Amino acid sequence: MALRDVVAAERERLSTGIGELDNVLGGGIVPGSLVLLGGSPGIGKSTLTTMVLANLHEAGRRTLYVSAEESAAQIRLRAERLSVGALGIPVIAETDLDSVLATLEAERPEVCVIDSVQTLHTMELSSAAGSVAQVREVAAAVMRVAKALEIAVLLVGHVTKDGALAGPRVLEHLVDCVLQFEGERERTYRTVRAVKNRFGSTNEAGVFEMRDDGLVEVLDASARFVGEATRAPGSVVLCAIEGSRPLLVEVQALVSSSELVPPRRVASGIDRNRLALVLAVLGRHAGIGAGSADVFVNVVGGIRVDEPGADLAVALAVASAVRGVALGSGDGQPLACFGELGLTGELRSVAHADRRLAEAAKFGLSPVVEPGAHRTLRSAIATALKAYDRTALAA
Ligand code: TYD
Ligand code: MG
Repeated sequence: MALRDVVAAERERLSTGIGELDNVLGGGIVPGSLVLLGGSPGIGKSTLTTMVLANLHEAGRRTLYVSAEESAAQIRLRAERLSVGALGIPVIAETDLDSVLATLEAERPEVCVIDSVQTLHTMELSSAAGSVAQVREVAAAVMRVAKALEIAVLLVGHVTKDGALAGPRVLEHLVDCVLQFEGERERTYRTVRAVKNRFGSTNEAGVFEMRDDGLVEVLDASARFVGEATRAPGSVVLCAIEGSRPLLVEVQALVSSSELVPPRRVASGIDRNRLALVLAVLGRHAGIGAGSADVFVNVVGGIRVDEPGADLAVALAVASAVRGVALGSGDGQPLACFGELGLTGELRSVAHADRRLAEAAKFGLSPVVEPGAHRTLRSAIATALKAYDRTALAA
């Protein structure tokens, strides 16, 4: 039989009731699919999945929340904060895999949350819950039952900072979709992105804010970050791409003398090795060395920007901090930029330049310092610092 003759039933997707999440999933939950939601402890996985079930429950879907981590009373307390609808979700607190599978067969929910894959365990294996063998076995068994009964499963998994520990990594090949929940527990903003999706693109990302009554979609993230940008020395605005969407975020740097050998290099929101590379290029090709000073770089709001386009923002923020001058355009707007740095000091173009520029223009940030206007880091820095001089003269 040729593929064209294969009947692929296009089943209607289930909306989670959360627009940003539906987007990331590729248009909602595919019935019978297995979605893995990974994230560090405290990021909001249980909150998000409870909200999803509450919405589905209110839309008349059969749901089930399996918690192997918290007692039913604890889950109730969370649900009370979220919505009245959340209190209607059927819930079981159970750590034994066989009991969970039996409940699935008896209840036959359309959508079920398993929180978490690391805390369920099967008696058949002697290893501890959370070990690689257990996690694999639990996920495989859940998948067999879920596929047979057409139950869509949201599987919650803990990831440690470096993605280690018998975490979701070992399950990525097994599930249909892997969502990553990122951000820092202490901070307000979190992003959800798909790192694998059999039923949609992996280019989507959603931004959320943790409030007292649950996670709220942030639809005007750029406006907020630009509005809050400090415009002080060490601050620039990066035209980033989150998924396929442009996002303006503030990147800050602090450079201060240090007694430590070697000095500290602290990066949050960007890769540490990338920071090291940018500092090396900055010193070697633009004559701005951090030397033996401590360097701290932070992407404001707990957003992570793991993309090469962030290089120039880091470089300009550090340059601005070293020189102690604020960067910006003449009319008091922060300086916007993006671009990748090459090892020879050249500025390299990155994907979606047009979208980044359009987003900056939307907020009146121009001109943008970017590879289309500058071939080298040296030239970009000269322009950025000169823009400052004009501001100073005008003042
Ligand atoms: P949680 O969803 O339990 O995180 P995870 O399941 O990923 O470990 O919630 C994380 C934190 O969010 C928790 O410290 C309490 C806080 N929180 C709020 O701020 N508002 C809320 O409405 C809820 C339910 C939790
Ligand atoms: Mg939890």
